[in-house]
Amino acid sequence: MDKSKIKTFSGDAIAVHFAEDLCIGIAECGRATGALFEAGRTPWCDPDQESVAKVREIVERCPSGALTYTDASGGEEVAPADNTITVISDGPFYVSGALAIEGFEDRPEVKHRAALCRCGQSENKPFCDNSHREANFRDYGAVGDAGPGASGSGGPLKIKANPGGSLLVQGHFRIRAASGRLAWHGDKVSLCRCGASHNKPFCDGKHREIGFEKN
Ligand code: FES
Repeated sequence: MDKSKIKTFSGDAIAVHFAEDLCIGIAECGRATGALFEAGRTPWCDPDQESVAKVREIVERCPSGALTYTDASGGEEVAPADNTITVISDGPFYVSGALAIEGFEDRPEVKHRAALCRCGQSENKPFCDNSHREANFRDYGAVGDAGPGASGSGGPLKIKANPGGSLLVQGHFRIRAASGRLAWHGDKVSLCRCGASHNKPFCDGKHREIGFEKN
């Protein structure tokens, strides 16, 4: 992730940061009512147009972590009570919670929200860069297993992109199917990030067969 690609829009009481290389155009910002974001305006984002509470709420809608804020009053973004991985139809995983993504623990952009590649084609792994579109990745995001059950809730969610292999997730969390159903609960799972598993969203070892990230 390139820190130089982060733009800051400063207001009197809150600043909004935009990490261009994490943005996959989900447009929660562009569709938000009000004047915080306005296409074609300079600046595109003007935090003084809304209350601090409203700015925080809109920024926290961004599922990729491309948008974050610094609240001058010192109020930091709080992790949601539950850690959740949402499987997006034909797209990435949206992960929200108290995230600790290995190799990116010191990056505030992905501390609470991230979009992670599951097609295997991203040039910005473990993050999604919309390569699933060009790759014609197809998976409707159903989840066929209920999981072993979580032994608690909340707390840190450790995520590791295993070299040449799966996405290892550890912590208390649930997996939401693309339909919106909270489908799986547990403390540890290996998710497919190569795009080839026959048991998506879970890893079934196919990454070895296809030589994922070996060439
Ligand atoms: S990462 Fe896709 S099958 Fe293991």
